[in-house]
Amino acid sequence: MKFTVAIDGPAAAGKGTISRAVAEEFGFSYLDTGSLYRAVGVKVLEIGGGVIDPAVAARLAGNLSQADLDRDDLRTAMAGQAASKVAAMPAVRAALLDFQKTYARRDGGAVLDGRDIGTVICPDAEVKIYVTASDEIRAARRHKELVVTMPDLTVEQVLTDLEARDARDANRDTAPMKAADDALLLDTTALSIDEAVQQAIAVIRARLK
Ligand code: DC
Repeated sequence: MKFTVAIDGPAAAGKGTISRAVAEEFGFSYLDTGSLYRAVGVKVLEIGGGVIDPAVAARLAGNLSQADLDRDDLRTAMAGQAASKVAAMPAVRAALLDFQKTYARRDGGAVLDGRDIGTVICPDAEVKIYVTASDEIRAARRHKELVVTMPDLTVEQVLTDLEARDARDANRDTAPMKAADDALLLDTTALSIDEAVQQAIAVIRARLK
């Protein structure tokens, strides 16, 4: 059976949590596409220099290994910003396209989360959900995760970081972050994790019937 669930939305809106829970509920595979861009971003940072050469970034994107995706430094704010920068490069997106498209149509069903899954990677996905939440709630949630390893980090710093990333992701020319016309909008600002997950599950269950 082929069945794709496309989950898009801005940083820290709850996409990852919802995607993992949905994948577990239905026995689907799960791909966090942000980790692909994060892995490229981190490698680019390692090569050094503030200037990122798109050709180098695209070559790295075409040669990602499982070890690159399993690194434990992909979730930092620095990796997020680097990811957002390489993600604006058309050659990097092109290098990651086939892998994501193939993953989306694998047997047994797949959940992919990102920014352009419902619009570019999988415009024919059986279910599309665009997850949002207020900037303040997103910053508070992300701060809670990050402060464990960065005790001096403030919510304001996280908010500034998220806003910069969202602006870059939404305003780039290639595959900008946006809701597909036929996506269900799921605003998690006033929802618990469980409520948000249950809403997503209900939509998918209805489509599977
Ligand atoms: O979902 P995330 O925060 O891990 O994503 C990191 C960055 O990668 C995000 O700021 C934009 C980019 N990205 C993208 O452009 N397209 C995707 N499908 C997923 C992530």
